Amino acid sequence: MIDNKKIYIKSYGCQMNVYDSDRIKNLFQNKGYTETKNIKEASLIVLNTCHIREKASEKVYSDIGRINKIKKSHKIKKEEYKLVVSGCVAQAEGEEIKKRNPLVDYIVGPQSYHKLTSMIEDSKNFINDDFLQQEKFNKLIFKSSDKVSEFITVQEGCDKFCAFCVVPYTRGSEFSRPISEIKEEIKKYLENGAKEIILLGQNVNAYHGENQNGKQVDLAYLINTISELDNLKRIRYMTSHPNDMSESLIKIHGDNQKLMPFIHLPIQSGSNEILSKMNRKHNIEKYYKIIDELKSSRSDIAISSDFIVGFPDETDKDFYETMELIQKIKFSIAYSFMYSPRPGTPAYRKDNIDIQIKKARLSAMQSLLKEQQSNYNKKFFKKNLDVLFDRKGRYNNQFVGRTIYNQSVFCSSSKNLIGKILNTKIVDTTNFALEGSI
Ligand code: SAH
Ligand code: SF4
Ligand code: F3S
Repeated sequence: MIDNKKIYIKSYGCQMNVYDSDRIKNLFQNKGYTETKNIKEASLIVLNTCHIREKASEKVYSDIGRINKIKKSHKIKKEEYKLVVSGCVAQAEGEEIKKRNPLVDYIVGPQSYHKLTSMIEDSKNFINDDFLQQEKFNKLIFKSSDKVSEFITVQEGCDKFCAFCVVPYTRGSEFSRPISEIKEEIKKYLENGAKEIILLGQNVNAYHGENQNGKQVDLAYLINTISELDNLKRIRYMTSHPNDMSESLIKIHGDNQKLMPFIHLPIQSGSNEILSKMNRKHNIEKYYKIIDELKSSRSDIAISSDFIVGFPDETDKDFYETMELIQKIKFSIAYSFMYSPRPGTPAYRKDNIDIQIKKARLSAMQSLLKEQQSNYNKKFFKKNLDVLFDRKGRYNNQFVGRTIYNQSVFCSSSKNLIGKILNTKIVDTTNFALEGSI
């Protein structure tokens, strides 16, 4: 029997998992648990996992081994704590996890984790991988995490089925929350001091929730509605898909002053042949057109993206075309990954690019992206930018914030800057961040 009620929760993967981890924490706080950052004293350990690439997925298994060692070295018996695997690995690998690792007590997917408290109380079912999006959001508890910048999931799931990606299988089909529910949740965060809201979705711009009249509305409508909330100063959204970039969404980048001039719009490859093999259902011409339109709407908008190198059949020419696209667009920041074949996806058995070639392509791409990010940051040297400070830095009197373009800014101050938007002079720039002076 466990009387100590302490929960330790670790989040892997995307921001939507961070949001889910906060919700899991809130569900257990409601049952009298307190959070601990010390795994030794936890009676409940939740690993909220990510399945996107093999490395992310395998990390869970090594962490389970590590936890076992820590507990053993402190002579903590297995009956004194419960181990839960939640998130996308739980959904994808289900009972396999328990077979591979008997130390795991409960397995719960991303659309059924609201059941976790009763699963543990009743000790009946050890697994739940149902897709219960609607029920989940009705049962969740939304407590502020006291952050200046709060994530809120407004859309879940994906109907796109890119050939490399596990998300449609782990998160299920597209689901959007109604506007009224989102607004109520945001109000709670604002009352606790949040200044910025980041609207999340696997394909957030596929949002199609109901408004108060029961009519289906899009992401642009949602952004305009929440921007009426007085204390809300900044709005961002991520991640968006080129095929869901509507005219209305592009337009409000020019019209809505609270919507930040930054967009994360993954393209994955600059070769039309590879895009077609990836089942992305758009070509590079469409991507260029969207970028042009976004820039016409808001000339200073910062563009970010994701790329995969070494997708099956990617030739030197395909790779060169991707590098060319990067040269042309000039990203403020972008993320690149080596293709990782994922079980159950259409491209799984087609992995045919030599690992050395993949590594070389990734390294070339990352140098180019780093150079672009550094050049982008340099443009702001000696300029003034509005920065929203959201956390303390590593050093005494150091604060960290974000520019409207989403760059990190480090600043020293004897006064507490958290929660403030301050016009800040950029006194130095690095590849990855800016240094400011107030
Ligand atoms: N919904 C978003 C992306 C979600 S996954 C979109 O449609 O763009 C985040 C990123 O992980 C993807 O953009 C892709 O670049 C990368 N990714 C997904 N599956 C991958 C795989 N099998 N191997 C390598 N990278 C992958
Ligand atoms: Fe994955 Fe493609 Fe859906 Fe993005 S759009 S989540 S990459 S399947
Ligand atoms: Fe990972 Fe699932 Fe997010 S696979 S990236 S945690 S949607």
